Amino acid sequence: MYIKDICLTNFRNYDTLSLTFHKGINIIYGENAQGKTNLLESIYVLALTKSHRSFIDKTLIKENSEKSKIIGNVILQDIPTKFEIILTPTKKQLHIDSNVIKNTGDYLSNINIVIFYPDDLELVKGSPNVRRRFLNVELTQLNALYYNVMNDYNRLLKMRNDYLKTDMHKFNEYYFTALTTYFVEKAILLLKMRKKFIDKLNSYISDIFFHIASLEDFHIKYDSFLDYDSNDEKMKKKFEEQLSSMREKEIRYKTTLIGPHRDDFSFYIGDMPLKSFGSQGQQRMAVLSLKLSEIEIFKSYKKESPILLLDDVFSELDDYKKNNLLNYIKEDIQTIITTTDLSCIDELIIKQSKRIEIENGTIKNIGEVK
Ligand SMILES: Nc1ncnc2c1ncn2[C@@H]1O[C@H](COP(=O)(O)OP(=O)(O)OP(=O)(O)O)[C@@H](O)[C@H]1O
Ligand SMILES: [Mg+2]
Repeated sequence: MYIKDICLTNFRNYDTLSLTFHKGINIIYGENAQGKTNLLESIYVLALTKSHRSFIDKTLIKENSEKSKIIGNVILQDIPTKFEIILTPTKKQLHIDSNVIKNTGDYLSNINIVIFYPDDLELVKGSPNVRRRFLNVELTQLNALYYNVMNDYNRLLKMRNDYLKTDMHKFNEYYFTALTTYFVEKAILLLKMRKKFIDKLNSYISDIFFHIASLEDFHIKYDSFLDYDSNDEKMKKKFEEQLSSMREKEIRYKTTLIGPHRDDFSFYIGDMPLKSFGSQGQQRMAVLSLKLSEIEIFKSYKKESPILLLDDVFSELDDYKKNNLLNYIKEDIQTIITTTDLSCIDELIIKQSKRIEIENGTIKNIGEVK
């Protein structure tokens, strides 16, 4: 798939912007704080309805404006499809081909994005929240169903937590058991989808990591509240037993203490957890391998390449890792790169790229592919 063009109104530091992309490589360059990342972010938001770097939608709207609009034409399986998002501080309107999309789940998983950005190292070093968010975002892109299951799960989790906070004299055992049954059902569904995704990542990541880092047995381990079992009923039963054995503790803490909302995953080389033992370089290579594996998963599930967004990553990668990444870019995958320094990108790549210079939220120069 590829994005053909984008049109922004009052997005971040852009008043209006209209830009056509190349099907291959696009390089957005310019000085610091001119709007390069903002432009990349607009593509991410168009695909995922949320930003990768801000949880608060309001920050996306241009200062002193009431709403912001992103329109993009994306070619999906050779068919042009128009996506549109209108953001106000309190709500979001989604359109596909001018039809209003009420359920966000129906909008997501159409445009697929793989993004590299400087904070990615947090996937290895950061808190479990960062990794859970990664799983949720990636699985939502792959499978529209995941988003709905995740929302159901979160809703039931909140109901359960709220109920654990109620006055114990009013506690209704039947209600709580019924709530827990629904909660367990959604938890197992989430767990299964995550497990399948991690297995799929593992089927690619070891070879990719070996190719980049020359180290064997690199893999990801999903750290769960529950041991995986292919038999759903057994898993449900086990989870229910665990919950009931924790009942007193849950009541004391007034919250649900186990479930996919507390799960995590970690990277290992053999038995060595990368988070505590890996060098900075190894951690970077792990993230690179993770993202390259993701591209493979998209290709295998969606039968076409995702759009690759590279925010300021070339200055941080050494030549060897850069080349590994470039090998992917050279293939049939639309890539949008931001950089302050064109000289850190291979001359050959520059020649094959559309170059867009950004200055203070406007296009200063455009260089078409030579
Ligand atoms: N909601 C907003 N309204 C107006 N301006 C904003 C808004 N959000 C961010 N900006 C401005 O956008 C600019 C930053 O843009 P961006 O992050 O895209 O920079 P960049 O070109 O990627 O720079 P760098 O090379 O440093 O990464 C800043 O000047 C910031 O003040
Ligand atoms: Mg930037």
